[in-house]
Amino acid sequence: MRALKRFIQSLAQTKEENRHSMVGPAHLWKMKRDFQIHFLKKENLKPEHYLLDIGCGTLRGGIPLIAYLQNGHYFGVEVREDALDEGRKELNEAGLEEKKPTLLVSSDISKLSIEQKFDYIWAFSVLLHMSDEILNDTLAFVSDHLSNTGAFYANVYIGEWKEGNWLEFPVVARTFEFYSNACTKNYLAMSDLGYLKDYGHISNVKSQDNQRMLKITKN
Ligand SMILES: C[S@@+](CC[C@H](N)C(=O)[O-])C[C@H]1O[C@@H](n2cnc3c(N)ncnc32)[C@H](O)[C@@H]1O
Repeated sequence: MRALKRFIQSLAQTKEENRHSMVGPAHLWKMKRDFQIHFLKKENLKPEHYLLDIGCGTLRGGIPLIAYLQNGHYFGVEVREDALDEGRKELNEAGLEEKKPTLLVSSDISKLSIEQKFDYIWAFSVLLHMSDEILNDTLAFVSDHLSNTGAFYANVYIGEWKEGNWLEFPVVARTFEFYSNACTKNYLAMSDLGYLKDYGHISNVKSQDNQRMLKITKN
């Protein structure tokens, strides 16, 4: 009986770990979940704000944000349907469906239509997986959907390399100048908020903790 219980428990764990590993290393899942809402609260996110989470994945960061924000104020966009399906399951398991988040699968953000301006736009570990063309489309979307006083936050690798892939996505480092020029082209202004580790992102993977957080606002 005990062995059966352990077997069932191990199946459950594997299922959870499988879900968590769809957005990164499973052992860092909780730290990366907690980091997101802590960072945004430090940047003054309030329940009444509207937030768009670009590349929301399985709602690793999304679930605490949905719980915190008022009904209908969380919007998530994701390119992988299977990842968002897991997010929907997690939403149900967390008993948060009544918060009525808008969850959208979109393979091309330049064709996405959302009738909402956002106080916060968030892309955690997403821009660094985009080609230059998709990055530009994303910034154009941000420019159209950010409220005049709103802010778009995104973590990035700073440097000049393209290092293999993560799943079907590239892993890209760009210079501040590149990001700044891409923002200017889209009527946005960029500033560097510093290292992720200084905001509590401690993964003990130096390259990740040394990623920078960008704050992007309307020009
Ligand atoms: C490292 S995961 C982070 C997921 C989520 N932001 C989090 O922190 O839990 C990157 C996510 O970005 C998504 N993604 C990559 N390119 C995208 C695009 N062009 N549009 C929307 N989502 C994208 C991936 O499918 C993946 O779920």
